[in-house]
Formats: sequence, structure tokens, C-alpha cells
Amino acid sequence: LSKITGHIESSVQEDERPVELPAGFDSADGVEPDVELARWLRRRLPAGVAVVTTSDPDQYFGVTVSAFSYVSLEPVLVYIALGIESQTGERIQAAGCFGISVLTNASRFTADRFAGRAPLADRHFADIPHVVARTGSPVLTESMYWLDCELVSSESCGDHIVYVGRVLASGRGAGSDDDPMLYFDSSYRRLGR
Ligand SMILES: Cc1cc2nc3c(=O)[nH]c(=O)nc-3n(C[C@H](O)[C@H](O)[C@H](O)COP(=O)(O)O)c2cc1C
Repeated sequence: LSKITGHIESSVQEDERPVELPAGFDSADGVEPDVELARWLRRRLPAGVAVVTTSDPDQYFGVTVSAFSYVSLEPVLVYIALGIESQTGERIQAAGCFGISVLTNASRFTADRFAGRAPLADRHFADIPHVVARTGSPVLTESMYWLDCELVSSESCGDHIVYVGRVLASGRGAGSDDDPMLYFDSSYRRLGR
């Protein structure tokens, strides 16, 4: 596995097509972004990486996300945004809960798996070390930390759905809290120090 992880380490392209930036982007007025420019803008926002999970009576679901952050501290609320066609999103609606496993750079292969870029986890996460949190969502023990969330709202926002969760429990994983995985310009990155 370390060999594979080492290979993935280089960089993973989400979308290798170069984006041609419209001339107006450099003008004083700026330009209304089309989907191409929006993709470029999104790529240039550095973000953490997590696996969002949920379950139904027969199986587990998980998806790699970078659209995740904290909304409120009292109560502790987080949001995630999933594409409208996300199977995991549908299951979150049905289950009313989800888990978030915040990844470190040791988990690049895992991030690829839950993004559909490497062999998928099976429906019981047989080869993905995990524990089942109180709500029933599996959370990854290789994470830096995990959150167990109760769904409090979901709202359609264009081509994504934003899910807000109340954090019922949080716990430490085996991942180093000094080496969070970052995603920038379609590649996994680490903090420069
Ligand atoms: C680093 C990274 C971050 C991603 N972030 C998101 C995200 O925030 N929201 C999303 O819907 N998809 C995101 N994706 C894409 C999903 O992981 C991918 O489309 C997945 O196959 C969707 O599975 P699902 O149908 O179960 O949701 C990301 C992929 C990668 C590699």
C-alpha cells in the first residue's frame, strides 16, 4: 500500500484540461464567471479534504469532499456540499445523519478511492479501518479526527445540495494532526513550512 500511496503522492489531476481565462478577468471590472472560469476559481481555493460517510441497513456509503467547513461553534454546526446526483447525498437525506473523517496526507489513496479514482470500498468498508459512530455512520480510523453529525438542514444550491449537520460527537483518529491533506489546483498538497 505504501508503494501505491507513494505513487499517488505526485499529483492527481481532477480535470487536466487547461482553462482558458477570459480577457475580462484581468480587467478592472472583472467578468461574470462561466463554468470554466468557475472551475479555475474553485481549484485555486486551498481546502482540507475529508470523507463524508453514511449508512443504510445494508451498506455504507462514502465520498471524498473538499466542500466542508464549520458554520457555528455554539451549537457546533458544519456544512458539506455534494453534487445533486450524489448517491451518498441521497442516503444522507434518508438516514438523517452523516460522518466526516478529516484526512491527512497518509490517506491520499483513500481519498482517491472515495472519489471513484481508485478501487472503490466495498459496501461494508471491509478493507477500510473504521468504527461505527453513535448515529450509525462509519468513520475512518486513519483520519486526523472524525465528526458524527445529525442532519439539521439541506438546501438545493444550484448543482449542489448543502447539508448542515450538528456535531454530536468527535474523536481522534490515527492520522497526524500536523499533516492535514490539502487540495489545491487539482492536486493533493501539504502545508509548506
Ligand atoms: C479532493 C477531492 C475533493 C472533492 N470534493 C467534492 C465535494 O466537495 N463535493 C462533491 O460533490 N464532490 C467532490 N469530489 C468528487 C467526488 O468525490 C466524486 O464525484 C465521487 O465519486 C462522488 O460519489 P457519490 O455519488 O457517492 O457522491 C471531490 C473529489 C476530490 C478528489
